Amino acid sequence: MPRPVALITGPTSGIGAGYARRYARDGYDLVLVARDVGRLEQLAGELQSEAGNIELLPADLADAADRDKVSERLAEGVRVLVNNAGFGTSGDFWEADPAQLQKQLDVNVTAVMHLTRAALPAMLDAGAGTVINIASVAGLLPGRGSTYSASKAWVISFSEGLANGLQGTGVGVHAVCPGYVRTEFHSRAGLDMAEVPSFMWLEVDDVVSESLADIAHGKVISIPSAQYKFLVATGRAMPRRLTRLATKRFGSGRGRT
Ligand SMILES: NC(=O)c1ccc[n+]([C@@H]2O[C@H](COP(=O)([O-])OP(=O)(O)OC[C@H]3O[C@@H](n4cnc5c(N)ncnc54)[C@H](OP(=O)(O)O)[C@@H]3O)[C@@H](O)[C@H]2O)c1
Repeated sequence: MPRPVALITGPTSGIGAGYARRYARDGYDLVLVARDVGRLEQLAGELQSEAGNIELLPADLADAADRDKVSERLAEGVRVLVNNAGFGTSGDFWEADPAQLQKQLDVNVTAVMHLTRAALPAMLDAGAGTVINIASVAGLLPGRGSTYSASKAWVISFSEGLANGLQGTGVGVHAVCPGYVRTEFHSRAGLDMAEVPSFMWLEVDDVVSESLADIAHGKVISIPSAQYKFLVATGRAMPRRLTRLATKRFGSGRGRT
């Protein structure tokens, strides 16, 4: 029996590395997609003893030609696609570099759309497949930041619509919405997180295992951890205007795009 294949974007750090380790342990072949070739090779070395075949596919997902390269690999067929690569930026929208904002949209949204579009036909032919899109709590609650939250709201809406359309095909699409996770995300974005209380921080392995348990139960939206489930449920129960006021009060609403 050939091993199932999981293609993971952004596995050189953080949450993506967590999914790569987990799928390696579960006996998958891996296709690892990111820009940093040195870190891709290091990860492949670490996972060699557990995973089957590991393919490295260096790509910048902000680049259309690189996205096409990844799409070609997906069209050959994979069992699992994890659209995880993504980033935030600090500063206010009206001062941000437009080219950087475009890159954010290209990685957080355009790549998710193109890679999912490329993966689905072979999954549908096989009658089996899972697309996991890493969104964020930021996409569920309004008023904190602008382009980043909007990109994650797109991912959630896209995943929910597709999941409905794919019902009964054997192929599932899921959006994972973590809160704050200890990764390189915030330092890469230049965000100062000193004020965030420790109980708000999640660990990568918990996010990965809880999300995969949710997906195994057929949940389209996974919100790992009790504290963020509570936060989202409360935020959604309040009038949107009040939720926006609360996120402005507790998150300032400034200094991040
Ligand atoms: N950490 C959090 O608090 C948090 C919360 C909610 C959602 N998320 C989401 O979780 C996902 C993973 O983030 P993380 O927290 O694990 O961050 P991270 O530690 O900074 O990892 C980001 C990963 O994305 C890859 N990446 C970034 N830009 C890329 C590009 N242009 N092309 C290809 N790969 C690229 C990076 O690889 P290279 O640099 O090697 O290319 C890296 O492997 C993101 O979508 C993020 O929005 C994070």
